[in-house]
Amino acid sequence: MKFILALIFLSKTLAMTWEEADLKAREWCADLTNEEKISLVTGRENMTGVCVGSIDPIERKDFAGLCMQDGPAGVRFANGTATSWQASINTAATFDRDLLYKVGAAQGKEFRDRGINYALGPSVNILRAPASGRIWEAYGEDPFFVGECGVQIIKGMQDSGTIATVKHFVGNDQENNRGASSSNIPEQALWEVYIDPFYRAVKDAEVHAVMSSYNAINGTYSVQNKKLLTDYLKGKIGYQGPVMSDWWSIYDVEKSFGAGMDINMPGGKAWGPDYIGNSYWGEHIQECIDKGIFPQERLDDAALRIIRSLFKAGQMENFPKVNLYIDTLTEENKALNRKVGADSNVLLKNDDSILPISKENNKKKIKKIAIIGKDAMPSKLCNDMGCADGTLPLGWGSGTTDFKYVIDPLSAITERAKKEGIKVVSSGNDNIISGALTAIKADLAIVFVQASSGEEYITVEGNKGDRQNLDLWHHGNDLVKAVAAVNKNTIVVIHAPGPVNLPFKNKVKGIIFAGMPGQETGNSIADVLFGDVNPSGHLPFTWAPREDYPTDVKYDETLPGGGEQKTQYDYDEGLFIGYRWFDKKNIEPTYPFGYGLSYTTFNYSGLDAIMEEDGLHVTLTVTNTGDIAGAAVPMIFLSFPEFVKDYPIRLFKGFNKTILEAGEAKEIEIFIDNHALSYYDVEVKDYVKPKEGEYVVYAGSNARDLPLKTTVSAAISKKRRNHL
Ligand code: BGC
Repeated sequence: MKFILALIFLSKTLAMTWEEADLKAREWCADLTNEEKISLVTGRENMTGVCVGSIDPIERKDFAGLCMQDGPAGVRFANGTATSWQASINTAATFDRDLLYKVGAAQGKEFRDRGINYALGPSVNILRAPASGRIWEAYGEDPFFVGECGVQIIKGMQDSGTIATVKHFVGNDQENNRGASSSNIPEQALWEVYIDPFYRAVKDAEVHAVMSSYNAINGTYSVQNKKLLTDYLKGKIGYQGPVMSDWWSIYDVEKSFGAGMDINMPGGKAWGPDYIGNSYWGEHIQECIDKGIFPQERLDDAALRIIRSLFKAGQMENFPKVNLYIDTLTEENKALNRKVGADSNVLLKNDDSILPISKENNKKKIKKIAIIGKDAMPSKLCNDMGCADGTLPLGWGSGTTDFKYVIDPLSAITERAKKEGIKVVSSGNDNIISGALTAIKADLAIVFVQASSGEEYITVEGNKGDRQNLDLWHHGNDLVKAVAAVNKNTIVVIHAPGPVNLPFKNKVKGIIFAGMPGQETGNSIADVLFGDVNPSGHLPFTWAPREDYPTDVKYDETLPGGGEQKTQYDYDEGLFIGYRWFDKKNIEPTYPFGYGLSYTTFNYSGLDAIMEEDGLHVTLTVTNTGDIAGAAVPMIFLSFPEFVKDYPIRLFKGFNKTILEAGEAKEIEIFIDNHALSYYDVEVKDYVKPKEGEYVVYAGSNARDLPLKTTVSAAISKKRRNHL
């Protein structure tokens, strides 16, 4: 905590503005030769060094070079010396801005201490299709919420002195043919849904780096998309830092460098040894300048952007030397991972208050618990987590980490149960007969099940990144059914990247979505099962059968990356992703966006809203109506004034997680800024904030539970607000 406060203080007092950084960078770059500038923009080592991306030193200038390293769940390839954090979908599920910031800050420190300049995260791509492989690396389906999460992580990281690289700009929303596909996104949805989190990252968090995506947008590969990179990101949004390519997504120099790409990563033409002399960029940049294909200023600008970002990040002085293997797996980090893991558990079902299992609450006379399923057992740790064997702490790909250890649920639960004098029996495999025989003798059975997903370069159990289907793996459904058939007190814990089918939903008493909680996974679930932590996680996505979503991934044959032939992903649903689609089509989801139970209950009342110059100030009272302390997440949804046509019925625009003692009531404020009150007008070619008409303000606990409603004029109110 002291570290975080010191950080906030330091960052506020020492932070350099972009203008100051610009002045310093211009001065520094003034005597750079073209050869040096070219070495700044062209990656070296081609992923054969300790960093997944690197830039050569310029000794004459005392410039030590740059190191880039993945990724959202912590420092990759650190051989167990760094924290293996939870998946971003878990961090999101906490709906807790402070925790998000703390995670960003703690991760940022781990990168900086190792001399890593750029952390390759966060990812703010949108959960558009639940089978999509990398949904666990980002923050769910809602652009406002994804943006908010990204902003907190970026602020935390950058306050620790690490450059955050927000990725993948833009529209990389599935794995299949990511490098040979076109995400065809209508202009309004492109801005409001897919670009918006990047917009927030630039405007609200001053992000220092952006990574582009593999795919094309509306026919033009992102790395060659001048409109996106130069006109939109650098022009309209005003981004000041560099854009780096995703790994080996550049196939030429003219179109990519000319379009506004600033860094070619990892430098070579394809996977293989260090590229020297065999890059699409390198000396070919000079050839293009000589031929007048793009001007000298393009190279000057790319170099300036890199150096400007480094000054802004405070990295041009006293930056540690690269050392990937220093130990940063501190007790604080373990505790924070455990807390986020616990707070991200989403309690989906808790019939008869079957949970928590604690002495005081033990009217059910629980003396023996059965823990069933291989997902409760120690994990086998494969390269880049390319296997699912034992409990599932993270998915696979570049966004995962080398674990030092994983606390398995069975060990953590057994230890915790001892304190209650409860006996634990187990069946540590997925065999239904063994599971049922173990469960039959217990007062309560907890079945651990899983499904994983990841990045397309690894295929796990037939899943090439994207999941083949939304079923649990390893016959999880059969296991749950067999256990539930013999034990009426069955609880299911699901480790997965997102929604799975729940054919057993009505046959069990409890369901927890635990996501992918990282190294402390066992402790995090034990904390919630035994009531040491009151669950307060909420779904950052809509949970429904696959066919009810507006969109899906495709499983076309693999095409060569960067070619003319592309899988076409038509974003015909436009703005209507996630809950917006379910509202429009009036489809009842299995669980709505924002859903999540607690061991206590909350009541919302007294909704009021005032439009002021800076935005909408909403107030409401939250009361803990149960008999234990807990955290509520009041959520605000808005309907826009009627003249905004073809618009979602309601949009998620505000939340404020609040801890309340039993019986306590608090009046809280939720502020919605002018950007969140705007829509993108394709004719005006900009975000527009309505000045007339009325917004309808809804408040409640999730997208389908909004008991409070008021209206507010879009015009600025003359009434004064009582500041809380
Ligand atoms: C991924 C990026 C990652 C990069 C470096 C790519 O395959 O898409 O997210 O940062 O590799 O490992």
